[in-house]
Parts: sequence; structure tokens; C-alpha cells
Amino acid sequence: MKKGLIQVLLIGFLLSLLVACGSESNNGTAANNESDQNDEKEVLIMATSADFPPFESYDTDGNFEGFDIEIAKVIAEELGYELEIEDMSFDGLIGALQSGRVDFVMAGMSATEERRQNVDFSKEYHRSGEMFIYQPDESINGLEELEGKTVGVQLGTIQEEGADVLSEEYGFEVKKVDDASVLIQELMSNRIDVAYMDKTVATGYINSQGLEGFDDPTTSSPGMGIAFPKGSELVEQVNEILTALEKDGTIDELEEEWLSEYE
Ligand code: ARG
Repeated sequence: MKKGLIQVLLIGFLLSLLVACGSESNNGTAANNESDQNDEKEVLIMATSADFPPFESYDTDGNFEGFDIEIAKVIAEELGYELEIEDMSFDGLIGALQSGRVDFVMAGMSATEERRQNVDFSKEYHRSGEMFIYQPDESINGLEELEGKTVGVQLGTIQEEGADVLSEEYGFEVKKVDDASVLIQELMSNRIDVAYMDKTVATGYINSQGLEGFDDPTTSSPGMGIAFPKGSELVEQVNEILTALEKDGTIDELEEEWLSEYE
């Protein structure tokens, strides 16, 4: 009787071990785990927040498109991987890297010192300042005129942090939303007075929605980098590829194609 019970417990224990191993290899970084399953190309998983044209968004067929997406495709190709893209909220990207769920992040992410505590960055591949944008029936010509207004920002961004500081000095409210396209909807439907975001993206909305805006005179943000889990050996390889793409004119061509209308 007693022996039977021990056997049952033992089998249960072994089964649970098996399940644990199985799920680990499903959740682990694809780049390291796909190889033993078949002979197909290994997969490199990139995470992004596809709410940020012209860097990353969806085309009308529901495919990812944008400057970051194109650079990521070239990098994966050069490294000999198949690229898989996961869309998530911007606020969750650093955590996805830290837990090793994804191999890298391209999301118009500014390579700040604070983020460098938790992730590694490639060299910068683009630089954009910040802008405050608003509907044309408003007239807000500088930080002093933000007093009493509601300024929207995307959660987890450098603008969230910047707005928290500036709001103290200039007396405005800060509204935080987790999606940059929702931020624009909030602005268009008058639920916020102003949106504070990367200049390149803001310029796109100024042009397409007839908005107005002014540059943030206080900004000192670094350029955008590709983010990796700390210690990832991909950083060096990707930097070499980026340098080659700069030299052979690929980056210039992609900038011309994706960013020239947003300058
Ligand atoms: N450049 C800003 C930052 O790094 C905003 C980036 C937002 N990106 C996005 N895909 N929504 O904080």
C-alpha cells in the first residue's frame, strides 16, 4: 500500500518535470531552441510596439511595416535567421528582453542611460527630438502656454518621464495611455489638449491630420538604438551590420523611403 503511494508520487513528480522541461523550450528564446527541432532557419524574435509610424505600424493587409521593420529584416537576413515579430505595448518591451522571451527590440526606442541599466543597445540608428502637438483651433506656442492643459504621453516612454518633470514647472496635467495611436485618438476627440511625442512621428500626424505643434526646447534625448538582453552576443554582430549598412547606402535608402516625408 505504502509502496504504491510512493510510486504514484514518483510518477507524478517525473511527469511534472517533463511538463516543466517542455514548456521551457517553448518559451525560451527561439534563436537557441529552434535548431534541434528541424533543419529550417533558426528564428530571431523581435518585439516592437507597432503603433508608431513611420517606424513600426501595420499596413492595410495587416503586415508590419516601417523603417525599423525594414532594418530588422535586413539584419535577420544578414545573420541568417528567420525574423519573427511580436507586437506588444511599449511599456512591456524592456521586461520581454529581461526575461529572455525575445531576442531584440526595435521600437523607436531611445537609448537612454536609464534603460542601459537593464538592457544593452546597438549603436544609434536614428535621432528624433520631441514635439508637442495640438489641434489647430488651439494656439499653444510654447511651454508657458501649457498651463492648465492636459498633455498626453505614451506609458513607458521618455516623454512620460519628461512630462512628469515639465508638468511641475509649467502647471499642466499629464494623461498616460499605453498605445501611441490611442494618444492621437485622444487628441482628435478632445480628451487631451496636447500630445507629447517623438518629433518624426508627430510630424507625420501634423501632415496627415492638419495638427500644429512646437519643438520641445528642453529635450536632450539620445538617438534610437536596437535593444538586447544584457550581455547578448548579438550586439556586436548587429553593430557590424549597421556599420556596413551605413557604408553601402542601405540606411540612406531606407531613410529616404520611410522618413523623408516626416522631416
Ligand atoms: N522614443 C521614445 C522612447 O524611447 C518613444 C518610443 C515609442 N515607441 C513606440 N513604438 N511606441 O521612449
